Amino acid sequence: MKTERIIIEDKEQPEEELLKKPAEILRNGGLVAFPTETVYGLGANALNEEAAGKIYAAKGRPSDNPLIAHIADFDDLPPLVTVIPEAGRRLMEAFWPGPLTLIFPKSDLVPYGTTGGLDTVAVRMPADPVANALIRLAGVPVAAPSANTSGRPSPTTADHVWQDMNGKIDMIVDGGAVGIGVESTIIDVSGDEPVILRPGAITQEMAFSVLGQEVPLDPAIVSGPMKADVRPKAPGMKYKHYAPKADLTLVEGETENVIRTIKRLAEEKLSKGFRVGIICTEETKERYPDGMVRSMGLRAREETIAHNLYGVLREFDDLDADFIFSESFSRDHLGQAIMNRLTKAAGYHILNAGCKEDCVHD
Ligand code: TXA
Ligand code: MG
Repeated sequence: MKTERIIIEDKEQPEEELLKKPAEILRNGGLVAFPTETVYGLGANALNEEAAGKIYAAKGRPSDNPLIAHIADFDDLPPLVTVIPEAGRRLMEAFWPGPLTLIFPKSDLVPYGTTGGLDTVAVRMPADPVANALIRLAGVPVAAPSANTSGRPSPTTADHVWQDMNGKIDMIVDGGAVGIGVESTIIDVSGDEPVILRPGAITQEMAFSVLGQEVPLDPAIVSGPMKADVRPKAPGMKYKHYAPKADLTLVEGETENVIRTIKRLAEEKLSKGFRVGIICTEETKERYPDGMVRSMGLRAREETIAHNLYGVLREFDDLDADFIFSESFSRDHLGQAIMNRLTKAAGYHILNAGCKEDCVHD
């Protein structure tokens, strides 16, 4: 299949004329990748089971991993769900359009092919003007997972999408680099109490401020590697996600210890002839030897770190790194999402640099 690519020059006010073709492709059951404020999505008509099926094929995604239905207006929600619980209503009024996905009991209109066989449906109203205009023009809810090959870091530029999807989908709508860089927060409001299934830019504190109650994280997020018999609420969480090709180790601890440990581990691998990448920050980048060292930005700027995260992981893929050693980041606010993705990318391989040996051998 030939993949067409169109470029949107004015992201804030996208030309409707340009978006007519991708909208028609979506309506007719084809696949179109498009930018959202979080990551690029791979869209198909969410009400068309066959179209949704093509997404799984293009991504190589397991068919029990449900898709998020993207809408353009509040009025698009009621037909997709049987009920809008109070918590869901308050959260969507506060954060839609935006980087928040809510899980509702699904209506009969939504096929099981979109929800991976579940009786619930994930819905999000993106804030990105290109996404919004495209969904509105398509006139149907758009099922869209991240537009990466399953298991690879999510795409934050149209080039990333091209690397993974060229030849497999009908069109890529290129709206430049996304803003946030990590996927939306998912909150399940279909049960008795709201639960966060995936941390993102709408933080736990922000949800608390709207609901006036603590919104817990699904235990599957905090408990580390998924055991075969554990059934997480978001089926996607049981798969190895966001994985770079290299073996990634996260190093935690006091900054000086972290730097020393990463240098030691990197030198060990380099001396054996391996290709080694280092992920650090603006504050520390001069401390490492020249080579494949990438800064994610200023440590205190969580937004910048989230924005750069997947691009840096993909860059190390392109550089054929064998091993990556990464500094750790704060788990506060957006840091919760950053560390969630990094920890998964590392396959939960986290090293504490607090021990004496790491400190004495420089
Ligand atoms: O920011 C985002 O959410 C991006 C952009 C494109 O909107 N989309 C995205 O989709 O990250 P995806 O498919 O990569 O991740 C969706 C996650 C998966 O972990 C999936 O298991 C979970 O949402 N999910 C979808 N429907 C669900 C449902 N009914 N119940 C529980 N989890 C669900
Ligand atoms: Mg994804």
